[in-house]
Amino acid sequence: MNNPGKFIVFEGIDGSGKSTQCKLLHRKMNQYFGSCHLTCEPSERPVGKMIRDIFSGKLPMDNLVVAGLFVADRLDHLVNKEDGIINLLKENTHVISDRYYLSSMAYQSVFASMEWILKANEQARQMLKADITFYLDLDPEKGMERINHSRDSKEIYEEMEHLRTVHHNYQKALEWQKREENIIVISADQPTEIIETIIWSEVQKLF
Ligand code: TYD
Repeated sequence: MNNPGKFIVFEGIDGSGKSTQCKLLHRKMNQYFGSCHLTCEPSERPVGKMIRDIFSGKLPMDNLVVAGLFVADRLDHLVNKEDGIINLLKENTHVISDRYYLSSMAYQSVFASMEWILKANEQARQMLKADITFYLDLDPEKGMERINHSRDSKEIYEEMEHLRTVHHNYQKALEWQKREENIIVISADQPTEIIETIIWSEVQKLF
């Protein structure tokens, strides 16, 4: 989006392996293309922390309010004065984000209409679209298996039916956004190194 730094987003259901790929790409970006910042949504900032407290069950909150909090967290993630993404990109730092507004379209549209989610995210979408989004596509059944193997405590959001709905919503969100955005769909059901190679070859095309 005409910034010197590139903005790279990873999306996928829980268990899709995006956090691993974020870390691998982060290391390589720093090595080959200069300074790169790795971040995630919900963010580590106050609104993001509140969302994590809600997800862990510490703070009860209506799902519509949570949808609003994600919008607020995202805007803060973009414009905060400490490490706001937009400033970093202007200063020629690349940014990798583990999730962005497609996540809201996939997860919050379980409780609200996708039209509303899209409208609520309009400001963020106008301010910053990703230079490239990698969607790691995984069957919800496989995602569930991976979550069960790799985590002790299951959060509210990690149940089978929910994962199926989210996966379905992702397909719809991709269908809506693919004309306007640079989205690469990669099967997450293949070895980490293969996925890493595909991602790297796409990232190199940005430079
Ligand atoms: P996740 O990246 O899976 O974090 P962790 O590695 O801690 O599991 O994100 C946490 C949860 O937040 C995940 O279940 C998806 C959810 N989420 C939304 O519901 N809406 C959003 O807009 C975002 C960014 C995340």
